[in-house]
Amino acid sequence: MVQKYHDLQNKAEVNILAIESSCDETSISVVRNGREVLSNIVASQIDIHRRFGGVVPEVASRNHITAISNIFEEAITTAGISREQLDAIAVTYGAGLIGALLVGVNFAKGLAYSLDLPLIAVSHVHGHIAANYISHPSLMPPFVCLMVSGGHTALLKVSDYNKMQLLGTTVDDAAGEAFDKVARVLNLPYPGGPEIDRLAQSGARTFNFTVSKSLAGSLNFSFSGIKTEVINTVHNLEQKGAQVPTQDIARSFQECVTDELSQKAISACRQTGIKKLVVAGGVGANSMLKAKLSQQCKDNSIEFFSPVLKYCTDNSAMIGSMAYYMMKDGLGLADLDLTAKANVEL
Ligand code: KG4
Ligand code: ZN
Repeated sequence: MVQKYHDLQNKAEVNILAIESSCDETSISVVRNGREVLSNIVASQIDIHRRFGGVVPEVASRNHITAISNIFEEAITTAGISREQLDAIAVTYGAGLIGALLVGVNFAKGLAYSLDLPLIAVSHVHGHIAANYISHPSLMPPFVCLMVSGGHTALLKVSDYNKMQLLGTTVDDAAGEAFDKVARVLNLPYPGGPEIDRLAQSGARTFNFTVSKSLAGSLNFSFSGIKTEVINTVHNLEQKGAQVPTQDIARSFQECVTDELSQKAISACRQTGIKKLVVAGGVGANSMLKAKLSQQCKDNSIEFFSPVLKYCTDNSAMIGSMAYYMMKDGLGLADLDLTAKANVEL
């Protein structure tokens, strides 16, 4: 299998079937040569988890099991290729919910074994970065990546497809986690990020929320302070029987968080001397964050890239793209003893 895997490096056309099941999206895609998406089927469980106010891990695992075989068939049919034309199977092995990940990992192992194909183990976080390769066919490292998802917030120096250095990270909550928790206290449905984004558009910055000053000057982030500040503000208003100005709170919170993210992303570009900034992960879908990054990049002569919306949030095409570049460097080949990991290093 090792030889078969290395032989792919010189193959002109490489079709990778990729599987993603780290949270509440079951997704399977076929990606050609890392950039061309032949199919990207995503079955979202958002409606199932909404009534619980967040993802229930056990419910997510069960729904992945129910959905995955049909999604596989659909991904192959939509791609318009046969199983024999597949060159490798890629799967997200972490980070994420263990039970959910295991469904994808075991399905991938079964496929790799039965089709006698190499199995490539991909980090979900690296997949988010690769979403940009799909959206921007000419994008290549080096660049600075602002990774903002439900589980991660980080600034990375991406020197090459498989060479990354952590420049800064959150010391507590991830940005998406803060969005979701603030949304929850405002009684907005799960997932909260898109709801805050929508409501903020008709709100005003009337609350002076702040992020911790102790990290000023560093490339690290902290969002638990502002999250608590918002929660306390809402509770105080409720205790006084006052009306909670949801739109203004959403706007004030979002302005503060996106100021922090965009300013530190630009600082990372300045410090590294890299004139290319890439945003990745679900919070990268935030309209205000994209607008600020785009404007500040323009002001500082930095090229700015963000994935199209459907590749910003969880999907498997990004996993297929990352797997291709791992294969090119001979990395990621997994055995049938591959297991899922709740946490993986950035
Ligand atoms: O990358 P992702 O789909 O899953 C993880 O890997 O975590 O990110 C999900 C996160 C959630 O916290 C969600 O609320 C947030 O991305 N999100 C947004 C927006 N769309 C999704 N946050 C702010 N504004 C948005 N438009
Ligand atoms: Zn994700």
